[in-house]
Amino acid sequence: MSIQLKVASKNISINIIWLRDNCRCSECYDRDNNNRKTTIQQFLKTIKIKIKDYIHEDNNLCIEWSDGHKSIYPTEWVIDMWTGNKIKIEPYTCLGEEIMKLPAKICYNDLTQEFAQKELIKSILKYGIGIVTNVNPTLEATEKLARFIAQPQQTIFGTMWTVGKNESHKDPAYLNGPLIVHNDNTYFCESTGLQVFHMLERDTKGKGGLSIVIDGFKVAEILKQESPMHFKNLTEIEIESEYIEPGVHCKWAGPVIKIDRTTNEVYQIRFNIYDRSPLPPSHSNEFYESYAHLVEILEREEMCWKHYLQPGTVVIYNNWRMLHGRTSFTGKRIFGGCYISMTEFLSKARTLQLIT
Ligand SMILES: [Fe+2]
Ligand SMILES: [Zn+2]
Repeated sequence: MSIQLKVASKNISINIIWLRDNCRCSECYDRDNNNRKTTIQQFLKTIKIKIKDYIHEDNNLCIEWSDGHKSIYPTEWVIDMWTGNKIKIEPYTCLGEEIMKLPAKICYNDLTQEFAQKELIKSILKYGIGIVTNVNPTLEATEKLARFIAQPQQTIFGTMWTVGKNESHKDPAYLNGPLIVHNDNTYFCESTGLQVFHMLERDTKGKGGLSIVIDGFKVAEILKQESPMHFKNLTEIEIESEYIEPGVHCKWAGPVIKIDRTTNEVYQIRFNIYDRSPLPPSHSNEFYESYAHLVEILEREEMCWKHYLQPGTVVIYNNWRMLHGRTSFTGKRIFGGCYISMTEFLSKARTLQLIT
């Protein structure tokens, strides 16, 4: 059962159970804490509900229900909720050097102001990366910067961390060798959302240590164009990743390319050649062929933005999108930063009215 609403010369048909379920009167909804007040018994009655009468005028929809309950809804709210009208920042996928040119570069001192926080967060939503300049090359200043977005996430690596100061972790990131581009912590139940990276100190006489960044959404786009079948395989075959060190054993599985089932858009890349567990025997051929194609795209020179991270400039990546790596290096290279969970990042973006 549904009722028809005529809005801007369009007829929209709205399910009546949905309407009753989303009644926002004080009996059904607590505006102080934004929670529903419906009991299980009321909910079970709702699914059998009928409309006695309704009127749609002055931008409001008023309904009298078969059980005597009355609801009033602003029409605009009903249409937005029913049609899923959402404010969204469409990602702009970047090739190589574009990754450096397009994102916002925000001065650290401006971050106390909301306009600068908005610019930074918009840039991360659109390009997967935001850059902050004029930052003191200390872990304290890096933490202060991160907190303008959200609180740093505590993980097995600590809350604020450094790489290159004799840390005890055995991850390849903590060694001097080359690091193939990857997404971090694919073995967490929810991979971290943002990475805040700051080169705190580097030996000017040291060689190598070039940072490499690739837009994973661009890679997925190219893979889909070149082989829809390989793309499909990587959105469906579940890959398990794990991280083991004394006292720690993290494990999680998911496809390399994650698709939003309602929009059909890619929302996460989980590529990490180091952390994969042995693959289950089913789908092996399909997986290896498709994964090799993805690796081959990642190897293309035009995909990469290669750069030297310098003390004073902080780069913030969306870890669900951007892949990062580095070339091997000699000499001192102390790198600091933190993670921010995707949940906290998106929450901040919503409070700034950048997304819904
Ligand atoms: Fe990493
Ligand atoms: Zn109600």
